[in-house]
Amino acid sequence: MISKLVQIVFLSLAASSTYCYDINTYNADYGVYVGDLSSPETDISGQVFIVNATTLQIFNLTFSPSQQDLYFWLDTKDVPTREGIKAHTFEYGITPLGSFPEDNDRVVVHVPEKHRIDEFKSFSIYSFKTDKSMASVVFPENVKIPKSVKLSTEFSGKRYQLRSGPLYVIDRRTIKVYGFTFEGNKAPKTYFYAGRGASVSYSSGVKVAIRGKDEKEISEISENYRGGKDIILELPENYDIFHIDWISVYCYKYRVNFGSVLVPTDDTLVNLPPYVPSIKKNTDGKPMARGVLKGSAERTNFTFQLGDVEHIKNLNGNLRSPKYVWHVNSVMSPDLYLMRNVTYNFNVEGGREKMIPELYNPLYIGDDENGGFSELSQNEAERVTIHSPGLIESNTGPLCIWMHNKDKAANEPDTYLECDGWPEDVHSFAFTPNETTPSVLYYNSGNNFNMGGRIFIVDELPENIADSAEVPYSREKWHTLALSRQRADKVNGGKATLAAVFLIIVTIILA
Ligand SMILES: *[C@@H]1O[C@H](CO)[C@@H](O)[C@H](O)[C@H]1NC(C)=O
Ligand SMILES: *[C@@H]1O[C@H](CO)[C@@H](O)[C@H](O)[C@H]1NC(C)=O
Ligand SMILES: *[C@@H]1O[C@H](CO)[C@@H](O)[C@H](O)[C@H]1NC(C)=O
Ligand SMILES: *[C@@H]1O[C@H](CO)[C@@H](O)[C@H](O)[C@H]1NC(C)=O
Ligand SMILES: *[C@@H]1O[C@H](CO)[C@@H](O)[C@H](O)[C@H]1NC(C)=O
Repeated sequence: MISKLVQIVFLSLAASSTYCYDINTYNADYGVYVGDLSSPETDISGQVFIVNATTLQIFNLTFSPSQQDLYFWLDTKDVPTREGIKAHTFEYGITPLGSFPEDNDRVVVHVPEKHRIDEFKSFSIYSFKTDKSMASVVFPENVKIPKSVKLSTEFSGKRYQLRSGPLYVIDRRTIKVYGFTFEGNKAPKTYFYAGRGASVSYSSGVKVAIRGKDEKEISEISENYRGGKDIILELPENYDIFHIDWISVYCYKYRVNFGSVLVPTDDTLVNLPPYVPSIKKNTDGKPMARGVLKGSAERTNFTFQLGDVEHIKNLNGNLRSPKYVWHVNSVMSPDLYLMRNVTYNFNVEGGREKMIPELYNPLYIGDDENGGFSELSQNEAERVTIHSPGLIESNTGPLCIWMHNKDKAANEPDTYLECDGWPEDVHSFAFTPNETTPSVLYYNSGNNFNMGGRIFIVDELPENIADSAEVPYSREKWHTLALSRQRADKVNGGKATLAAVFLIIVTIILA
């Protein structure tokens, strides 16, 4: 144990880190320190802290991905193995890590649902394909994990029906109030108010924001809270639960305390999770509104092709847009509504060129939102139920890509289709949802993450949701490319060389 500590301190000195934290020690700003990601062979470094049972954060991470399949990885062994699982970030989800924005001094890493940090022994940056660890931290024995605290105090007051359930201190700056009741519509100019001192006073307090309501500035409470929902209070910057003595529902106008709770002064809060600021989603990168295709009696065939998403900033509102996403009957990754007991045909035209991962896309239907089944570890794959028939790898077809018509004339459509392959190569499978099919499923690529969309399984199609318009297409380009492939076949004595295939694909990509 001691030698490990010495080793880690040595390593962090070697990486010229000027910050030293003690292993398994609580720091109110960052959490419990578990180690440095530095390793002698890589340029990776960063200090890893446990926030709570499901979250880690890394400070001052230096990492420029040297290959395409690196993940944050949690493992039950000291050394990461293929049995581990991916941990996800806001920036990349569970998809391979890219570099993080320079101004990110902190990277927040989440443990997948239904798992907890204390199930694992190590955290690393790991290459799944080559089974190699790039940087790793072993959790200390008996690691202390910061915990949220439930207080026994509640709000209650004589006026405006003020009441609540217990308070739950989520972290240093975040407090949940269960079942808040207050006639805010009747009370004059009232705010949540927090401050120091033995009793509630106007001069020693500060207004407190309600999450979802006071995002930009704090406004008076004007809603009639009937106790049916919980609210979350956020203490202002430079304040935290350790530096306040009370939280009040306070009438600013007449300087009246309608009711307050005291913050415990004993050691109940000593091991509270640190505050982790929520990541600001850049507003010009809002997730796109999805199109909709309803599986009516007239539409039982769905054709899955690819489309470029680079021109649309951040499909998911963050950095994890793949190069291509599925286009279904020409509509970019729409929500599908399919009826139970109706048989639908799924035609797959997502490419079967294994040499270029982006252009090899078997289609499958499953209950996993992110897809990429072949990139899942065994542990991860076991949690996924596949609903499409047959092996995932068998659901591949020719390559068809929706292209953007860059120099289009006014009367031409925005997009057109290019295909490589023969129409008879198209692979189709039937899908018939029934009584036991879950109400939400996803269509995805077996080989790449986040290319798909949702499938809602319904008894009747919704009437209040509009269908997207399909773009009609012909197969003009199909033959051009297929014929050039055939020519290449002839030139090479009937064998398509890889070079010819590449040429065709490059034509498609550059077009
Ligand atoms: C990260 O680096 C910055 C600048 O060097 C420093 O101020 C900060 O304390 C470091 N963070 C941690 C958690 O060590
Ligand atoms: C842990 O902290 C993160 C970041 O503040 C939060 O999103 C998450 O809900 C917390 N998890 C638990 C189990 O409290
Ligand atoms: C769906 O495609 C099949 C052939 O794959 C065809 O027989 C059928 O008529 C099509 N159905 C509709 C509603 O277009
Ligand atoms: C529903 O579909 C699933 C998957 O195709 C099948 O295994 C099951 O037997 C079906 N259930 C009924 C009641 O038809
Ligand atoms: C689907 O078929 C099953 C068995 O034939 C039947 O019980 C069920 O009501 C049907 N559901 C719908 C939505 O038609």
